[in-house]
Amino acid sequence: MFSKNLVTLLTLALGAFAQDATAPKGSDVVKLDTSSFAEYIESHPLVLAEFFAPWCGHCKNLAPEYVEAASALKKDNISLAQIDCTEDQELCMDQGIRGYPSLKVFKGGDPSKALEYEGGRTAESIINYMVKQSLPSVQVFDDEKAFEELLKESVQPVVVFNGDKNLNQTFHKVADSLFNEFTFASFDGAKEYLAVHLPNEDEPISFKGDRKGIEKSADDLEAWIKIEGLPYFGEVNGQTFGAYVESGLPLAYFFYNDDDERKEYSSFFTKLGKEYRGKLSFAGLDARKFGRHAENLNMKEQFPLFAIHNMSSNLKYGVAQLPDEKYEKLDKPLKLSTKEVSKLVNDVVSGKAEPIVKSEEIPEKQESNVIKIVGKTHDQLIEDNKKDVLVKYYAPWCGHCKRLAPIYEQLADILASDDKTSKSFVIGDIDATENDVPGVDLEGYPTIILYPAGKNSKPVVFEQERSVESFLAFLKKNGGTKLDLEKVYEKYQAEQKKADEDESDETGHDEL
Ligand SMILES: *[C@@H]1O[C@H](CO)[C@@H](O)[C@H](O)[C@H]1NC(C)=O
Ligand SMILES: *[C@@H]1O[C@H](CO)[C@@H](O)[C@H](O)[C@H]1NC(C)=O
Ligand SMILES: *[C@@H]1O[C@H](CO)[C@@H](O)[C@H](O)[C@H]1NC(C)=O
Repeated sequence: MFSKNLVTLLTLALGAFAQDATAPKGSDVVKLDTSSFAEYIESHPLVLAEFFAPWCGHCKNLAPEYVEAASALKKDNISLAQIDCTEDQELCMDQGIRGYPSLKVFKGGDPSKALEYEGGRTAESIINYMVKQSLPSVQVFDDEKAFEELLKESVQPVVVFNGDKNLNQTFHKVADSLFNEFTFASFDGAKEYLAVHLPNEDEPISFKGDRKGIEKSADDLEAWIKIEGLPYFGEVNGQTFGAYVESGLPLAYFFYNDDDERKEYSSFFTKLGKEYRGKLSFAGLDARKFGRHAENLNMKEQFPLFAIHNMSSNLKYGVAQLPDEKYEKLDKPLKLSTKEVSKLVNDVVSGKAEPIVKSEEIPEKQESNVIKIVGKTHDQLIEDNKKDVLVKYYAPWCGHCKRLAPIYEQLADILASDDKTSKSFVIGDIDATENDVPGVDLEGYPTIILYPAGKNSKPVVFEQERSVESFLAFLKKNGGTKLDLEKVYEKYQAEQKKADEDESDETGHDEL
């Protein structure tokens, strides 16, 4: 009760001081409107523009930071401007503004060519981001001292090459595209042909691959930088997650309870990060903020925890956790065993580890001709090369899946009605929200896939009209068993008709 009141009081107190979203007169933020906008952008080399509404809470929070950044950046000839979209709807519509605040960067004086601002919302991150925008994508150094200074100050990984003219063009091209995530430098006196300097690390990571290859291929150079630019032991959050996914490497997560715990394990994970460089990425994740993510990794919310997600195979691995009863009775904080972490990492890399597959229980008996498949039975079933196996991957909440259900049911009944087809086909479904199906590419629900007899490694996705006739035609065309499904269907229809007639004969009246 007390604490709740306190929260209310605090909220009220803060509310009373909540600042305006509009920068005060006399600040270094320039107010722009339809009449002044184009001319201002055209006459200033670098402008950050905030499109906002006075009532918007995030705009109010941003205001003092924005004002502070504006005065710091003035000396660098970088301007910060504001456009009030409640006054200037047309300008905001022209700029395609959909939410507040929207921040856009205008470089080189063209009002029609805005870049999305992708930095943070504190004065410091606005300043860093905008200073960076004012620099060329590759900074050229001829002075060792200035170069060392850059390495010391940069909060981003610095990619450096020694100016080799064979690499020059590709290097510049990649620098233009990765400009926001990395700092690129050219230094004639560099000891290395090409290297990445990570923040807070003394030793650079030098390029040891095929020089001719990357000199010709911007894609290869980009891929190398995306892997080597990851910290040995980094942090997963909204800003960094994309880089981890793009690296294509499996990601090893350390979920920690608090900063002390992160620190305690930091050198251990940094060491692993160095040892397994290029094979796995290691990163911490703040369980206080993102603890729910454990579920996506098939782990329980018992922290600290360690888990590995191989995103290309979608396989998940984790250090064993406690049964719920035991966890609830714990009388001291949980500890993560570094020995078990090392073993798991080693097993995953050498292909020996068992993934944790999420699965419903295997059903004791099947309720209908549509076979209920679960995570534990899925792989074995689709690997049955003697049968045509059709699998519907669905989600319980999906409307299209519900509409398909009776049609799919009927398809299964038809194939079960004949001795030969019943032995040659499996018509199954699996709730993909409750069961893992690693390696199956699900782009939506339902996804229906045929694993044909004789060539189950070449699955065929069903992408046509969802009717019984269409399914039968699809199975006949793509299946491996090549049975006369039309005849089976005709026989089934005839039997149905007869059964209906018999039934109405028996009861002596038509059904309602
Ligand atoms: C700032 O920008 C203006 C307008 O482009 C230009 O005239 C001026 O020389 C620049 N000043 C500096 C210090 O770069
Ligand atoms: C390197 O490439 C950039 C961009 O294409 C170009 O501006 C620069 O002159 C080149 N430098 C050398 C030494 O060739
Ligand atoms: C991750 O999965 C891919 C694709 O199945 C596989 O080639 C790779 O070896 C796996 N990596 C690890 C470290 O298990």
